[in-house]
Amino acid sequence: MKPDEPLVALVTCDRFPQLYEDDHPLVAALQELGIRPAPSIWSDPSIDWASFDAVVIRSPWDYFERVTEFRAWLDARIASGVLLCNAAEILTWNFDKGYLADLEAVGMSLVPTICIARGERPDVAALARARGWRDIVVKPTISGGAYRLHRFLVDDAAAYAREIEETLADRGVLVQPFLPEILTGGELSMLFFDGVFSHAVRKRPAPGDYRVQFQYGGTNEDAMVDPALVAQARACVLAAPSLPVYARVDGVVKDGQFLLMELEAFEPLMFLARHPEAAMRFARAIQGRVVADRHRRL
Ligand SMILES: Nc1ncnc2c1ncn2[C@@H]1O[C@H](COP(=O)(O)OP(=O)(O)O)[C@@H](O)[C@H]1O
Ligand SMILES: [Mg+2]
Repeated sequence: MKPDEPLVALVTCDRFPQLYEDDHPLVAALQELGIRPAPSIWSDPSIDWASFDAVVIRSPWDYFERVTEFRAWLDARIASGVLLCNAAEILTWNFDKGYLADLEAVGMSLVPTICIARGERPDVAALARARGWRDIVVKPTISGGAYRLHRFLVDDAAAYAREIEETLADRGVLVQPFLPEILTGGELSMLFFDGVFSHAVRKRPAPGDYRVQFQYGGTNEDAMVDPALVAQARACVLAAPSLPVYARVDGVVKDGQFLLMELEAFEPLMFLARHPEAAMRFARAIQGRVVADRHRRL
């Protein structure tokens, strides 16, 4: 091992101490480039974060259950000035799905969404009925893996009022119509490194479910995507506060139109195992930032 080989933390959680398997090709690609990857659990107090040349957020998938603690950890990294991938301004912006309103304001097409701010006491059923929605999804603005997400008919809203109120104690909530297209066409993910399109994946829920995440038995397959949809997704990526090293654009195609569900520039699973070249693209994008940061510090 050469001493000048950059050391890069790949941030994870104690459930995945050696990262989630989808990131294993990234570890190999970084090593091929002469970079030392170090899977690092964000909540491990013994880690000296100052020892890294870069800190790359990968699978800290308990952060939405430990928001205050995780924010303190993240704020400490930002304050230390360590090179973060994605950059601090992106992570800060992307942490809370309130960013969807910013993307809508610059002309991106979203899944129709009502944003309810933390601490509010909304009548969810009345808001949804006013928009003509019967079957709805309610989800926290800080979440992952379908955490605290519910689908229900507005007539049954009373049964969810308590949990929604609890969620609103420390974060916002999004209300959307349930899009049945998720059951037929699935959810489309388009993956970008340094703003360049890499590959696309279609995620499908298990029979009887509507959540596409692997935790609920969701599956995925390679997808061929119309260039017009890629262009739409790329516009979302370029609307981030700076150019993301990695980004995943999730959405549903409805009547030929891509509707954005999420721009994941925080801790997205990148479906690297699906595409042989994707891991090297990711590794090169990280390397580019490490090299630029070294020059900046000279
Ligand atoms: N409006 C919706 N219509 C249909 N399915 C939805 C809707 N919103 C979310 N889902 C399903 O729930 C999953 C998780 O929701 P998402 O908004 O991606 O939150 P997160 O991934 O942050 O938990 C989606 O991947 C999708 O399968
Ligand atoms: Mg999602």
